Amino acid sequence: MVWTKNVSRETASEYRDSLTESLVGQYSDYSEQYPVVNSIALDRSSFLLDAGCGTGRFLAHTAPGQRFVGVDLSLEMLKAAKRDLGRGYFVVGELEHLPFEDQKFDQIISVRVLQHVANQAKALNELSRVCQAGGSVVVLCLNSWTLHCVYKNIRMSRLGKVIDLPFQLLLGNRSMFSRWPYPYDSYCSMPELCHLFEQAGLMVEERKGGTLGAPWFFSYFYVGRIMERIAPILLRVFFRICFSVEKRLAAVFPFKYLMDKIIVRGIRQQ
Ligand SMILES: C[S@@+](CC[C@H](N)C(=O)[O-])C[C@H]1O[C@@H](n2cnc3c(N)ncnc32)[C@H](O)[C@@H]1O
Repeated sequence: MVWTKNVSRETASEYRDSLTESLVGQYSDYSEQYPVVNSIALDRSSFLLDAGCGTGRFLAHTAPGQRFVGVDLSLEMLKAAKRDLGRGYFVVGELEHLPFEDQKFDQIISVRVLQHVANQAKALNELSRVCQAGGSVVVLCLNSWTLHCVYKNIRMSRLGKVIDLPFQLLLGNRSMFSRWPYPYDSYCSMPELCHLFEQAGLMVEERKGGTLGAPWFFSYFYVGRIMERIAPILLRVFFRICFSVEKRLAAVFPFKYLMDKIIVRGIRQQ
């Protein structure tokens, strides 16, 4: 999926379904939800912003009566979120230019958005600006110190074109080395993300990793689809084991630096 202002209604539904319909999608979903939801306080008194909320899967965890706003580049993603949640406020906007006053929110989350933003420092400054002093900002980003990032970089490079040739002949447009669909997709390492936090005036309080089971590999190399047909129980058990291990190792050195996702929570200074 390519994220632009003009994402269609079908793409929005496809994104939501991609996290619910297959075992690989479900694993991606709960292995991202668990560490993020555990880093924020979901209570009525806290005003929450989900920056790049997509179809609103994180906002579904808000407490009854809790005030929240979802902001996203795409109107169709917001419409899908509004349809599903039936409550809350949704605003079209960009992370780099958030359409809110200073210090408006108590807590801010932003999941899997930063890699699509060209000016990441500006986005972090904006998240910090709209956060209350003492409030928290939680960002989940794809980790650049992973095989996933190596694979993505190959597909984004000229070398990818060469590797792709035999796969194109065999698989046509299903080749797993075809051009990477995102024109801009820049993952961060844990030190880079922490540095962006510090620069934006957010004191880093918590660092953890998430997602051990390489769902990207299961999706791009069709292993997930094949296993889901012939051995779904095996796949389910594998993801359960990964989830239980990652919960234990998420904050442990060196695993927190090496998992597929990195999660950082920072506190806005005065
Ligand atoms: C991978 S989806 C993640 C959505 C949601 N946070 C989730 O985890 O389900 C990326 C989302 O970021 C949005 N997005 C991309 N660039 C953005 C930007 N510069 N400002 C705001 N939203 C952006 C896209 O429209 C899309 O909804």
